[in-house]
Amino acid sequence: MHKSTIEKSREIFEKSEEVIAGGVNSPVRAFIGLGADPMIVSKGKGDTITDVDGRTYIDYCMSWGALLHGHAHPEVTERVVERAKLGSSFGIGTEEEERLARELVEAVESLEKVRFVSSGTEALMTAIRLARGYTKRHVVIKFNGNYHGHADPFLVKGGSAVSQVSQDSSSDGVPHESVRNTVSLPYNDSEIFKQVMRDPFYSQFIAAVVVEPVAANMGVVPANQEFLEVIRSETKRIGAVFIFDEVISGFRVAFGGAQEIYAIQPDLSCFGKIIGGGFPAAALGGKKEIMECLAPNGKVFQAGTLSGNPVAMEGGLATLELAKVDGFYKELKRKTEVITKPIREMGVCIQEAVGMFTVFFGPKKVSCFEDLKDLDKERFKEYFRFMLERGIYLSPSPYEACFISSAHTEEHLEKTRDAILEYLNK
Ligand SMILES: Cc1ncc(COP(=O)(O)O)c(C=O)c1O
Repeated sequence: MHKSTIEKSREIFEKSEEVIAGGVNSPVRAFIGLGADPMIVSKGKGDTITDVDGRTYIDYCMSWGALLHGHAHPEVTERVVERAKLGSSFGIGTEEEERLARELVEAVESLEKVRFVSSGTEALMTAIRLARGYTKRHVVIKFNGNYHGHADPFLVKGGSAVSQVSQDSSSDGVPHESVRNTVSLPYNDSEIFKQVMRDPFYSQFIAAVVVEPVAANMGVVPANQEFLEVIRSETKRIGAVFIFDEVISGFRVAFGGAQEIYAIQPDLSCFGKIIGGGFPAAALGGKKEIMECLAPNGKVFQAGTLSGNPVAMEGGLATLELAKVDGFYKELKRKTEVITKPIREMGVCIQEAVGMFTVFFGPKKVSCFEDLKDLDKERFKEYFRFMLERGIYLSPSPYEACFISSAHTEEHLEKTRDAILEYLNK
């Protein structure tokens, strides 16, 4: 059994705190409120990570869902290394960009054109600017508990770590003016949404509605079919841009993203994580008519020194090719169920989509952020530490998803399932 204190990790973390704000480069990595020392990772292989103290953990964070095939997949690694040998960045077009763009356009029905950026935050930030430029309107509707990166307009009632650092899930440093035109509504509530969309005065200003079709930043909370259909028809009716944030769900729940499963065609979609195969790449894409508003053809500005970076593109290409085989998602779903099925059968609240799951302590069912008001964070803390001590690393927050990759072995999935059952039966 692993001890909960880890000496070398602790030492490096303390040194990091001296020179890195909070010791981390993304808040949730500090294990906020978990009472456990964050480990410092030295390497990963398949479904495991190893820390600087030499302890190995089965990993269910998987770089927050970016690693569909686990750590250091031989094929992905080899292709990336070979590409890097030819030069890592040019700041001008490369063939890899065209190849990955074509892969995305062919995989996801609603995509006619794409634009690559380096992070999900950038993709969403650009999508909103584009929707505003295209519609010449300014109001953006989002949903409570969804997370769309850390650009100013989204920092209202956000999920993920935003909900842990501030009571109203917002952020200092965001001027009122930046969020005055953001409206955050309850997720999965079509009636309230319709009321806003049908307000005769207000609706004329609505530029975009953005949603995580499978919410994964308040734990896993898939949208109801009817909710997404209502958003589709209402946005169409008033001429607002419907944006799917598929930064997590894209190429995870299906090769064509959540939009394939729900059979809904948004106007714009954002991707990230998996499409870079563990390297920094993200994209926005959608209808040609809208995408052509981006500079240089249009007047909506976007640019990036490392956008479409060829090494990241190669990582994405290798990753998608490995996922594009018959039965890949069926197998990922089966692997997910190895863990989720017996736990659900115990009557415990566990929610899932293909390749991800969350155990909720407190609520019986979670359909929206408001259902998390009775979330038992103390219980989560105990559960997280119980698992960590058994060499199983879960995403370190009660508001996040755990991710399963194609590299997770049967033995490790069963070990994880048994450890969760042991904890629940305690
Ligand atoms: C749904 C969703 N959108 C956007 C983002 C932001 O992506 P990034 O962290 O690459 O900026 C995230 C990050 O977790 C996400 O989960």
